[in-house]
Amino acid sequence: MIVTRTTMDVAQLSAGWEAEARRWIEWARAPGHDSYWRFHRDQFLDLLPAPGRLTLDIGCGEGRLARDLKALGHRLIAIDSSPSLVAAAKASDPAMDVRLADATALPLDDACADLAIAFMSPQDIDDMPAAIAEAARALAPGGRFCMAIVHPMNSAGSFEEATADAPFIIKGDYLGAFHYADTVERDGLTMTFNSRHRPLQAYFTALQQAGLLVETLREPSLPDHAIVIGTGRRWQRIPFFLHLRAVRP
Ligand SMILES: C[S@@+](CC[C@H](N)C(=O)[O-])C[C@H]1O[C@@H](n2cnc3c(N)ncnc32)[C@H](O)[C@@H]1O
Repeated sequence: MIVTRTTMDVAQLSAGWEAEARRWIEWARAPGHDSYWRFHRDQFLDLLPAPGRLTLDIGCGEGRLARDLKALGHRLIAIDSSPSLVAAAKASDPAMDVRLADATALPLDDACADLAIAFMSPQDIDDMPAAIAEAARALAPGGRFCMAIVHPMNSAGSFEEATADAPFIIKGDYLGAFHYADTVERDGLTMTFNSRHRPLQAYFTALQQAGLLVETLREPSLPDHAIVIGTGRRWQRIPFFLHLRAVRP
């Protein structure tokens, strides 16, 4: 696997995702390729409450989680700002309610849902605090907001080398915020992930301002079965992802 990072001060992340849509569809749908299939989906599903009245999938991409949630009995609306990814999600299941919209302006009534999910999208949304406030607006009292992100420690730094016990180094800012584009080449597929590093407190401030109360926070490590070569064990020392569930009181 080869990872090349570029950082920049300003970029429109949603435009970056539309530009990468074709490559993301290939990456996300290749059997067993993405962490989603190998372990991440199951770790995240464990965080979710049982299906209720209405579930929102905010930043749904090409629709893999929405399809899985539907199969698990969720009645859902999936939303994304990328026209190409929304088209792909709709084509994969024409019966699914998939809408083209920005996460900061959801085409939904107040308090219409009892579960709002943002799986691996908050770090890719330019105005993350406005998106979390919108999710809270769409939640009925007692509703849950569940999110997964690239762990802020992961986006702040990198391992010095590809060994199981490699030092993990943060050369720049953890407490600052910056856009970055990671181009990853693995098993014949290439994908550029356009994201923003923000420290953990940026998410907590957004949740607090949206009136959401955190119930639980998880830092899942790579399960043994997902480690194909020994060097992967470094992700059992440093968290790859962060999961969080909050409630609208
Ligand atoms: C890493 S992908 C995750 C997609 C999907 N949740 C999955 O795991 O397959 C991030 C998604 O966030 C979407 N996104 C970025 N900015 C957005 C915005 N402002 N509003 C809605 N979606 C946005 C991108 O188009 C992309 O589909």
